[in-house]
Amino acid sequence: MRKAFSLLLILCLLALPAASFAAALAADPAATTVEMSDVLYGLFFEDINHAADGGLYAELLQNRSFENQDLLDPKPHQRYNGWQFNLKNKGKAAAVPATEAPLNENNPTYMRITIEKAPYLLSNMGYASTAFSGGVPVEEGMQYDFSVWMRNPGDYTGGITVAITDRSANPLSESFTIAPAGEWQKFEHTFTSQATADACLTVTMEGTGSIDIDMASLMPRERFGAEWPGGGLRTDLVETLRALNPRFLRFPGGCVAEGSYVRANVYNWKDTVGPVEQRRENFNTWGYMQSYGIGFFEYFCLAEALGAEPLPVVHAGLLCQAREVREAPLTLEETRAYGQDILDLIEFATGDATTEWGGLRAQMGHPEPFRLNYLAIGNENWDNIYFDRYAILSEMVKASYPEITCIVAAGPVAEGALPQHSWQQIRSRFAEDLVDEHYYMESDWFLRNTGRYDRYPRTTQVFLGEYAAHEPVIGGRRPNNLYSALCEAAYMTAIERNSDLVQMACYAPLMAREGMFQWTPDLIWFNAREVLLTPNYYVQQMFAATVGNHVVESTLEGENLYHVVTRTEDKLYVKVVSLSESETPLTLTLAGVPDGTAETVQLTGEKRMQNAFTAPDRIAPVTGGCTISGGVAECVLPAYSVTIFTFPLAQ
Ligand code: AHR
Repeated sequence: MRKAFSLLLILCLLALPAASFAAALAADPAATTVEMSDVLYGLFFEDINHAADGGLYAELLQNRSFENQDLLDPKPHQRYNGWQFNLKNKGKAAAVPATEAPLNENNPTYMRITIEKAPYLLSNMGYASTAFSGGVPVEEGMQYDFSVWMRNPGDYTGGITVAITDRSANPLSESFTIAPAGEWQKFEHTFTSQATADACLTVTMEGTGSIDIDMASLMPRERFGAEWPGGGLRTDLVETLRALNPRFLRFPGGCVAEGSYVRANVYNWKDTVGPVEQRRENFNTWGYMQSYGIGFFEYFCLAEALGAEPLPVVHAGLLCQAREVREAPLTLEETRAYGQDILDLIEFATGDATTEWGGLRAQMGHPEPFRLNYLAIGNENWDNIYFDRYAILSEMVKASYPEITCIVAAGPVAEGALPQHSWQQIRSRFAEDLVDEHYYMESDWFLRNTGRYDRYPRTTQVFLGEYAAHEPVIGGRRPNNLYSALCEAAYMTAIERNSDLVQMACYAPLMAREGMFQWTPDLIWFNAREVLLTPNYYVQQMFAATVGNHVVESTLEGENLYHVVTRTEDKLYVKVVSLSESETPLTLTLAGVPDGTAETVQLTGEKRMQNAFTAPDRIAPVTGGCTISGGVAECVLPAYSVTIFTFPLAQ
């Protein structure tokens, strides 16, 4: 009988789901520890993976200005990138990139088409990605703002029309007639698309002789910041960023800010401001051309529109140290001279309209100064070659603008001799500055290292300027799966616990265009029409929506759980991350929290699950409630989950 009972018990136990050990969390909202940063979570925007050109920037045409050229391996054919010639195959012409009497000296290349037999067609195919929808995405009934600069050098006779067409040059819109004269002239028209299609923009030349063309542009009428000189941004992507509730915006890189291999690749902020056709394009570290349609003015405007602190990154007189450096850094004397460029940038952002650079900002449409409280000098730099230059540049900034917090780089890795040396230098020379740490580590590293910042001395504060949990590569990319997101969430509980020290933190990279990316994982994926949110995005969003102003003392008993409790005047936030493979019953004992219902937001699913364009909502936050009575709340944490509870507090 006894044996039979034991057998039955064993069978019952085997039938149960994997063991679920109960957990207990206790906190007293009256017992607070550190004050939290009010700029804790933000964004790092870099034009990598076509995040700007072919992404956030509303421009639908690629290589609109024929400047496309690989800086290290220039080839004439690169100027034709994005364009198709003679689509209907009826004409005969020579299309040659030309530089004589250009539109302006910053925009030196244009296309000269010399037509022998008409009609001759010139079509821009947009950002045509093979994997997903691409080209020039147009929607039936929607409007598109077109502009182009053209010139008739003398002998062209015949008509010229422009239209949105399909990829065989059949019209999808009305056509617009252009009659260029002997000088460069800008022509503008707003098209209405008659179809929803992956289209192109086609210029049809019905005559013979030569025509010069430059700066062709097509943007959806519905766009964000259409009044900005750069032309504006893709609205859906701006709203995706806004939904992250960012408190700061770091830009324009990353490696992009430093330049790679040769000095000509350095990001010079002055190249990126002023009328858009006068911005000097540059080849991108990541292998494509930057139009600078999103330049420093637009970055400041975007930060302002998002309610975020702008955080520009300027180079420190050094090329990206992580790549093969083919040219010497600026000498210390040259570094001092370059420092004026940084002061000019600050004047551009904050000077009044009577100053040279503040005047340019006013002309560009923003007479009021922008906010500017942070400035990073250098990106992923290290060693004394960097710190000596940083010393010169940061001293120049502080001498004129003591209110600006300078950000010093601690290098590109989390551990080892390099960051140790950086920190030793920084603590002895720049202890009052904010220290920019970057690390991309395997997911489990983040779980093993939640104690990292508990051990840091409190003398110098940290900006975690780039981080992400990296999963093993599958199918050529590191996935944005739930597990990586939960490891980041676990780590973020430790960031919050230490947010007296860690003032700011942002995931990297931020965005990637499907089929045209250089780096994985990325927080936000998009194609020509759609945006795909990752589990990692949702973690950032959930945490940024529930930042307290103080950390609350708390304890948690349980396995594979990570947590933090924070509060504002009237809310208590409890964040619990479970890396357990089974569900965990949790008892919350929260002293003095009034009876009622907490709002919960939860992200959960299968451990390695990802979202996809074909299944975008596999992993998405779900809201719910949890009752509290007599200071005690009971709930069950799902396996592989993050749950954020918001309890109203009595005031
Ligand atoms: O985020 C991608 C790159 O990673 C950044 O450009 C660089 O700073 C880091 O190496």
